[in-house]
Amino acid sequence: MSVPQPPEPIPGARLLFSLDPAVNHLNHGSFGAVPIGVQRAQQRLRDEMEANPLRFFTQGLTDRIAHTRRHLATFLGADPDGTALVGNTTTGVAVVLQSLGLRPGDEVLSTDHGYGAVSLAIGRECRRTGAESRVLPVPLAATDEEVIQTVRAALRPGRTRLLVVDQLTSATARLFPVAAIVGVAHEQGVPVLVDAAHVPGMLPTSVASVGADFWVGNLHKWAYAPRGTAVLVVAPQWRERIEPLVVSWEQETGFPARLEWQATLDYTSWLAAPAGLFTLRSLGVDRVRAHNAALAAYAQRVVGDALAVAPAHLPDPGGPEVAMRIIPLPRGLATTVEQGRALQRRIAERLAAEVAVMSWNGQGWLRLCGQVYNAPEEYERLAVRLPPLLAQR
Ligand SMILES: Cc1ncc(COP(=O)(O)O)c(C=O)c1O
Repeated sequence: MSVPQPPEPIPGARLLFSLDPAVNHLNHGSFGAVPIGVQRAQQRLRDEMEANPLRFFTQGLTDRIAHTRRHLATFLGADPDGTALVGNTTTGVAVVLQSLGLRPGDEVLSTDHGYGAVSLAIGRECRRTGAESRVLPVPLAATDEEVIQTVRAALRPGRTRLLVVDQLTSATARLFPVAAIVGVAHEQGVPVLVDAAHVPGMLPTSVASVGADFWVGNLHKWAYAPRGTAVLVVAPQWRERIEPLVVSWEQETGFPARLEWQATLDYTSWLAAPAGLFTLRSLGVDRVRAHNAALAAYAQRVVGDALAVAPAHLPDPGGPEVAMRIIPLPRGLATTVEQGRALQRRIAERLAAEVAVMSWNGQGWLRLCGQVYNAPEEYERLAVRLPPLLAQR
């Protein structure tokens, strides 16, 4: 197996961010980082809002939101008429779940790679409606074909009212073959919600070609948008059945305005989101993707070597653009979510490095991301300093 080389840095990219230079920020995936230019764009919108709140909210705001929605949808290869802006992926998932009209005897099927908060939302909606939540185990090393066959075998037509599957998983940084999974689910008449929280900006995407009933993704992670910016893309047959969490003045206008207008909120994050895409395009979308993925692969190898993990045991995300990678931690570390959080905090405090520590199926994992503001030396430093810290249990 060849040793991945660190990529050439993108000159000046670090200066676009206001990140604390005393810290190594190696976890872009959790909450993103907003470039300074995007922060300024949002601040200008807030200044406009505060100069005349009445005019800002009542003259043209819904048109500006619609314009932004079309811009973001086009970037993602989604049908602009089937796209709604929402605050985050969690909200998009909640909107879908509560619009399904689940009943006793129904089930929602998801995988054990699903995001924790999404699993909690599925659990609550199932408890509320008397439906069942079933979690399908998918081995980390399963091939795409095995994943597809596992899902196919687990579907119960007539009973499975929704399949929830991640396009790129959070805990395991694994790409799932979502278009093929949607295909097998649809063969059996099962609707699919794709959790694509990490996809916008990171992966080249044509949402339309995934073919899901529902696709939800964050712009505030890898597309440099201000936090609070996500899209929910809905297939035509569902659009009039989708209900917002909060009923407000656009309720009678129908999809997507009824989802977007959630009463008096700060909508400036949405309006500034195109500035995030502008930053991405200015740096070069393909160049950023190639850089980030190469850096994440390098990080995985450098830190994996330091933890004495054989290259064969470093999970492959399954795609060339994936900018996050996981490394198994020594046995017994971070075997629960709470222990993972405590270790993550200890690494932040003692090593001044922000990383993600995940617990998945009783095994602790370190997740590292690559971003344009990162340099290979940051991971090399972590590789030197992490083993002694882990040894002090
Ligand atoms: C796979 C996945 N789904 C959902 C979410 C939730 O995103 P948000 O907090 O923006 O709702 C995340 C966040 O990291 C995620 O990784």
